[in-house]
Amino acid sequence: MKIIEIEGNRNLTGQVRISGAKNATVALIPAAILTDEEATICNVPEITDTTALCDILELLKVKVNRSTESVVINPQTMENVEIGEEYSKKLRASYYFMGALLGKYKKAVMYFPGGCSIGARPIDLHLKGFEALGATVTNEDNKYIVEAEELKGANIYLDIASVGATINIMLAAVKAKGKTVIDNAAKEPEIVNVATFLNNMGAKISGAGTSTITIQGVEKLHKCFHEVIPDRIEAGTYIIIGALCGTDFKVDNVIPEHIDSLLSKLKEMGVNLEIGTDYVNVINRNEKLKATNIKTAVYPGFATDLQQPFTVLLTQATGKSKVTETIWENRFMHIPYLRELGANIEIKNQTATIMGPTKLKGAEVVATDLRAGAAMVAAALLAEGKTTITNAEHILRGYEQLVEKLTAVGAKIAIKEI
Ligand code: UD1
Repeated sequence: MKIIEIEGNRNLTGQVRISGAKNATVALIPAAILTDEEATICNVPEITDTTALCDILELLKVKVNRSTESVVINPQTMENVEIGEEYSKKLRASYYFMGALLGKYKKAVMYFPGGCSIGARPIDLHLKGFEALGATVTNEDNKYIVEAEELKGANIYLDIASVGATINIMLAAVKAKGKTVIDNAAKEPEIVNVATFLNNMGAKISGAGTSTITIQGVEKLHKCFHEVIPDRIEAGTYIIIGALCGTDFKVDNVIPEHIDSLLSKLKEMGVNLEIGTDYVNVINRNEKLKATNIKTAVYPGFATDLQQPFTVLLTQATGKSKVTETIWENRFMHIPYLRELGANIEIKNQTATIMGPTKLKGAEVVATDLRAGAAMVAAALLAEGKTTITNAEHILRGYEQLVEKLTAVGAKIAIKEI
């Protein structure tokens, strides 16, 4: 097991450069198999989720060449073999191979995906979308066989604007015969990034970033070069860390528009920010932050993935703040550990009420999932004394060079294997 140790209560200053977006990368890598030629993806973060997907590519006999920040994927020698549970369980996004393999071979055999335990995380909308395109789905003991004689464009309405279902249906529909329309599609920037990648390879997708996406099927996709957008969740996490303990704390390589909902909440609380075209600078820590309420929502609403780190900042605001989680039913696992560190938080149903400000003091805590882990790191950086975070593997799934980036701005942080 990996643990992270942090000696907190230090002033952080300097610059943190944001890496490529995890949630775009994890869809772009499976999407690359849809061409028979070479796809080069750059600005790829070095996180364990990327490694897990490259392992699946290698299982499928795809040539993968990884160098710093880029992956070259060549599926010329590819074979459509079953993706075993040991591969699919490593991350949630393994499910993008379902859509991509179905789109390419009209058949995918794989197991139910893994990922953070933040809710039930069903994939019924993905499967209904595949069925609408003409596929049949067989499911036995977590193993899914999705196959079709022919994939035909269809009109698909998503009951929930699911990020995963939107991308997976796009992957399956790109080479289907005729036109597919996805209504109530998710609008996250990562979806636009994936649609741009597919279009660069010759796909005909329009409307990505709106709630109606139209895909005109094409026969072939060709080679391309593509860049991953900056990670808005990593950016948001570091901006929150800056608000907690930064002075002249510059978060660089950011698309501020992607984190509008966070930035407006930070301004409302009184965080001193300077927002540039591609950076956000936390000028200094405001000792008198105002309490506020947030409710998570699909993009462009307040991102559920930033809810947990944001809760840490609310422990420092004066008065009563409320956090309502509407996307995942099990996303308050960081709260008991924030209490261990000294926070005053109560949970009722899907709302956490935070009374602040409270002083935080180092303790032994657990990273129960990726973003809960990020919240623990943020809290530990502020807390007086030493905090030990166990199960740190979760954090490394989504934050590239976390220890190096934080050390460079003055944090005392170390990662150890025990
Ligand atoms: C993606 C992100 C994750 C983020 C989430 C919401 C990736 C790899 N992960 O997850 O970080 O927290 O979006 O912004 O991009 N649902 C169903 N049936 C389905 C699919 C989803 O009921 O078939 C429900 C889920 O249980 C959840 C909601 O829809 O309540 C949103 O899920 P979705 O947008 O699909 O999340 P993911 O794509 O898994």
